[in-house]
Formats: sequence, structure tokens, C-alpha cells
Amino acid sequence: MIFSQNKVKYAFILGQVPALARAEIMAILEHASLDFEELFYNEQVLVLAMRKAEIDWLQARLGGTIKIASLKFQASSIKQEIIEKLIQQQPPAKNKRFQFGFSAYGRVNMKELKQIGLNLKRVLRLKKVRSRFVVSKESALSSVIVHKEKLIDQGADVVVINSGKEYYLGYTVSAQKFQEYSERDYGRPQRDDQSGMLPPKLAKMMINLGRAGFDQTILDPFCGSGTVIQEALLLGYKKIIGSDIAAKAVSDTINNLEWLKVKLQQDIAGVKIFQQDVKSLSAKIQPQSVDVIVTEPYLGPARAIPSSQDAKYLPVRPAGQKISTSKSQVSNPEIDVIDELSKLYLKAFAQFHQVLKKEGKAVIILPIINNQTVDIINDVKCLGFVSLPLSDCPRKSIVYARPGQRVRREIFVFKKI
Ligand SMILES: C[S@@+](CC[C@H](N)C(=O)[O-])C[C@H]1O[C@@H](n2cnc3c(N)ncnc32)[C@H](O)[C@@H]1O
Repeated sequence: MIFSQNKVKYAFILGQVPALARAEIMAILEHASLDFEELFYNEQVLVLAMRKAEIDWLQARLGGTIKIASLKFQASSIKQEIIEKLIQQQPPAKNKRFQFGFSAYGRVNMKELKQIGLNLKRVLRLKKVRSRFVVSKESALSSVIVHKEKLIDQGADVVVINSGKEYYLGYTVSAQKFQEYSERDYGRPQRDDQSGMLPPKLAKMMINLGRAGFDQTILDPFCGSGTVIQEALLLGYKKIIGSDIAAKAVSDTINNLEWLKVKLQQDIAGVKIFQQDVKSLSAKIQPQSVDVIVTEPYLGPARAIPSSQDAKYLPVRPAGQKISTSKSQVSNPEIDVIDELSKLYLKAFAQFHQVLKKEGKAVIILPIINNQTVDIINDVKCLGFVSLPLSDCPRKSIVYARPGQRVRREIFVFKKI
């Protein structure tokens, strides 16, 4: 079956934390009033039917989407003739070798796909087209391979998705510019591995979840080395405020922004950076002047916390139990750290309430330390916020973590009421 011309189907190939990547796509499409219908979602891919979109813009805007594919056919099985038709839609560039490969998502018979690839090479040879069949160890080609092998401009990354009911077939039309992210992450002059740095892609996803208009004001009151500010600038935000309790963080952020100005000719004139304890933020920021707060706060002294293997012998505060205001009788470094952090965060939220406009949002990370969450959601609500659901889980949050991480990041969106 060939899809109708007015509604197109796109597959968004999702990054490391698919639920977050999906939430980001929804936020951007809804904010841009782009109608869409979700057709399929799993741990790797989100398939949407929507009007033809400006794909390069969408790819550049999204932090969590690795590739976007335009889907052309739906079929009950993978047939060589369909793949030949797909490839014909991507004609080889003049005097260039045609490079093609496959990216399979869901249960796809890779042997069968490989055989089709080899047959295709023969078919192309008969048509006097020089070609190269690009293969990788994985069942899908990465954004790195897609860019390096020039599969978008001089070939095709054929995408095959098994939804369990049928196959979607198409080809990649855009891929994340991995080099730019890596340069922004590792190339900038000031990095602070001690207090931890937010990966630029995550900063971008969080900014997008805030759904701020480009003329609105974004604040990061724990700006560290300035990742949120940098990503907000690159997305097109102009009015940005960054503050931090540490003088070094303030100077690191300024240095990194200067680097951005020189390296990427980025206009940074609308950014204000200053030193300020979050507990007295309203002394420096006008009441009700901020539209969206996007922040990764202080996540605790990671090294002072034992690993979960040591920690399993230590008592864990039962879920829902109040944060202690006096010293606990049994000393547990993990619970002590979480109690201290909870107090800091609640003071921060009280300040957020003052500086945010009505209906302003706070997109914030709370740490999960050795599986122990920070239980302040009800207290945050008492301060005058509602939690906007990012997921169906009881805490309405999404966890962003790499395997084995001792301190995981739990992402929330709160709205001031
Ligand atoms: C996890 S880092 C933020 C990292 C930042 N997102 C980045 O990518 O560079 C936390 C920051 O919170 C700052 N901080 C700690 N306590 C603070 C407080 N009471 N008020 C404001 N900033 C504070 C620290 O100085 C540190 O720079």
C-alpha cells in the first residue's frame, strides 16, 4: 500500500532515553501547532502521520531524535521490489558511487535483508550504477555512519520497521549532527566534571519540554558551566538568565559563552549571568518576570555517597516519610544527603514561585541516589505548583540514566498556579 500524498508518515529514531525523546517530539509538534497522529511507538522508534514538515528544522530542534525517516510503504512482508522502488526514489548523484544500507527496527530478519542488499547491488550493476552496500554490526546504521557514508545525499539508508502488525518501509531524510554536539560538549574551554555537566542533548530536550516562545525569558539558577544557556541560545532564545552560588561557575559560564560567540558567531547580548544563591534568587530577579526555568540543580556530593552495593546494608527511608529536620539517629550518608538536598530544593521552589510568571514552568532534574528518590513532590505542590505529566508512572517523571550510574537524573515539569 502506498501512503496518501497529503498526510506523510515519519519515523523518529529515538535516542538513549526513548520516553524522553518522545515527550520532546510531542512538546515541539504541539507547540508549533503541527497536527499529528501517533501510529506506533516502541523503545527505538516513534511513527507519526502528519503534514509534510520542515525536516531539517525539526532534526536540528530535537535533542533526543537520532534520525528521521520518511516512510513510503506499508507491507505485510519485506519484498525486494519494494526496496528497489524505494531506492529509485533516491537517484544516485551524477558520477558518484551510490551508497546504501539498511536500518532495521523491531523483529526483522537480518539475513533476508542482507540477501536483498546483495541482490540489489547486482541489479544496480546491470543498470551500470556503481554502488556500495554499507553494513554495520548493529541492525541499524548510526547517525555517524549515515553522515560519514553520505547516505542522505549520495545514497540511501533504507529503514525497515516491524510494528508487530506490519512493516513500514522508507528512508532516512535527516540525521543528528553528532560532531556539533560533541564539540559543544568536549570542545568548550570550561568543563566542570566535579559538579557534573549536563549533556547538551539533555539540556536541549529539557528546554523543549518547557515550550517557551522565542521571545520569552528562560532562567537557569544553577547554571554551572552554562550548558542550558548555551543550548537555549543555539535554539534561538534571546532572553536568558543564568545564576549560580559559585564565582567559578559564573566565570566558567561567561568563558563558555565567549567561546560560543567566537566559534559559532552566536549573539550573546541578551544573556545575563550573575552570582547568586538560589535561596535568595528574588533579591536579584524581578517578581513574575521569568517564563520558564530549566535547571539541573546541585545533585549532592556524589563521591561521599556509597555505591548501592554498600548502601543496601543501610536503612532506607520508607517512601512518603517526611524529611527530617533534626539529625537522624542512625547516620546514613545517602538519606542525609537526600534530606539536605530536599531542603535546598524546597527553598529553591519557593523562590521559583516568586520569580516565575503565572503559569510559568520549571523543568528540573531531581537526583535518584542509589534508587532513593527525592520525595518533595507534595511539598512542591503546596508551594503553588502542579506537576505536568511526562509519563504514566505515579511520579509522572522520566528517568535519564546510563547503566550502572549511581546518581540518576529524574526529570519533572512543574507549572506555577
Ligand atoms: C550539577 S551543577 C549544574 C551543572 C550545569 N547544568 C552544567 O551543565 O554545567 C550544579 C550547580 O549548582 C550550584 N549550586 C549549588 N548550590 C547552590 C545554591 N544554593 N544556589 C545556586 N547554585 C548552587 C553549584 O555551584 C553547581 O555549579
